[in-house]
Formats: sequence, C-alpha cells, structure tokens
Amino acid sequence: MADIKDITPYNSDENSKKSQVQGMFDKIAPNYDFLNRFLTLGIDVTWRKKAIAQLKGLPADKVLDVATGTADLAIEEAHKLPVKSIIGMDLSPQMLSIGETKVKKDGLQNVISLETGDSENLRFSDDEFDIITAGFGVRNFENLEKGLKEMYRVLKPGGTMMILEFSKPRVFPLKQLFNIYFSSILPLIGKLKSKDNRAYKYLYESVQAFPDYDDFTNILKNIGFKNTKWKALSFGICSIYTAQK
Ligand SMILES: C[S@@+](CC[C@H](N)C(=O)[O-])C[C@H]1O[C@@H](n2cnc3c(N)ncnc32)[C@H](O)[C@@H]1O
Repeated sequence: MADIKDITPYNSDENSKKSQVQGMFDKIAPNYDFLNRFLTLGIDVTWRKKAIAQLKGLPADKVLDVATGTADLAIEEAHKLPVKSIIGMDLSPQMLSIGETKVKKDGLQNVISLETGDSENLRFSDDEFDIITAGFGVRNFENLEKGLKEMYRVLKPGGTMMILEFSKPRVFPLKQLFNIYFSSILPLIGKLKSKDNRAYKYLYESVQAFPDYDDFTNILKNIGFKNTKWKALSFGICSIYTAQK
C-alpha cells in the first residue's frame, strides 16, 4: 500500500504536498461545509460531537485545534467544554475565512481565535495546551510524524490529544458498500459541486493510505504518548483517537 506521504492532491512534482494541500482547501473552501453535510448525510456533525464528548471533565482552559479548517470542531469545543481560549490553526486562509464568519455568528470571538499556520512547525512553546485536537486534519500532513511530534511538544504533561479521522471499515458488507461509495460516487459528487477534479479522489486515496486503528496508536506510542485509545464510529468509517502526554 502507498505511503501516506506519497499521496498528494494533484500528483504534481512542482509543488510540495503542503502547498498542494493548501491550494486544494483554498479552492474547495466555499463548498467544504455543504459537501461534508451532504456526502455524510450530516453524520459528520455527530462524529464531532462524539469526539468532543471524550474530552468532558478534563482540564480545558487552553485548547489548540490544529488543521481547524472552517472551525467546526473549535466551535463545538467552545460550546461544550469549559474553555477559556481556543486557538484554531490552519494552512488555508480561505477555510479560515469561512470559519471566522461562523465564529462571529455564534458570538465566540472572545473565545476562539483563528490563525494561519503550519501544524508541523508550531509557533508555541513546549507544554502550553491542556487539550489539542484535530478533525480530519492529520491525514493531510506532509509529514505525519513531524506534525504529531509538534502536537506532543506543545501539549502540557498530563494533557490530552484527541484526533478524529477517517478509518477503513472492516465489517462485511459495509466495507464493500462503503468502498464503492467512497471510491466512485463521492468523488463524482465532490467534483461536480467543488469544481475540483482531484479533491474528493484524494480524500479516498488518502484514507486508504492512512494508518488507522492500532497502526495509528502505535505511531502515537512511539512518539511518547500514553494511554492511547481508539474508538470506531459508524462501523469504522471514522475513529476517535485519544492519547495523553
Ligand atoms: C479535511 S479539513 C478538516 C477541517 C476541520 N478540522 C473539520 O473538522 O472539518 C483538513 C484541513 O487540514 C488543513 N491542513 C492540512 N495540513 C496542515 C498543516 N500542516 N497545518 C495546518 N493545517 C493543515 C487543511 O488546510 C484543511 O483545512
């Protein structure tokens, strides 16, 4: 199976994976939320709620949401957790600009601040955050381990990281049905609506190459994370990973 670092949006050697990823999300940003709801029949909203429920009762003064995109996870965190501040960071200014409008609409400007930045080179000091989250983001990193190491570095000792990410369903017949939907139907709808030929094919390819379940928690353990756990949602279409520093 291909290595996740070799799966790029546009199969072009001219631009780095990171700049291709940024360009792709800048391009699809206006349709991103609509397509998320439409292509998952709204289930993505439930996945984010379940992911945040894993963090209830934990110290949550200072939260970092990497690859925050249009800020859905950060906004849900602001509503559900006793946070004082959330920084949402993303490579794509266009995704953040849509997020900014949503943050204002919910009156959360005093809690959430969005900024452009690279999760693989975080500007923060060591041990800064109580909680670090990433929703459907780490799969797109140019260098997965570098990004996860950065998340580990800026997390407080005892702090919790939560990652929500697509995984590959393993149960018959869902595995087969989902594969047909994910490899053929979803890219076609994605292409028609987002006007990007590759974005939703890249989504399928990157999920196939992404290390899921124990493969992913093993990477976290090697980095130094403790208490690593995964929980499959919707028969394994998506999984919640939690770990502590
Ligand atoms: C699929 S979107 C997820 C957005 C949001 N977290 C959600 O739950 O819908 C992935 C996001 O990851 C961002 N991204 C990818 N690599 C990144 C990196 N190295 N640093 C910051 N953001 C990154 C992309 O720009 C994109 O907005």
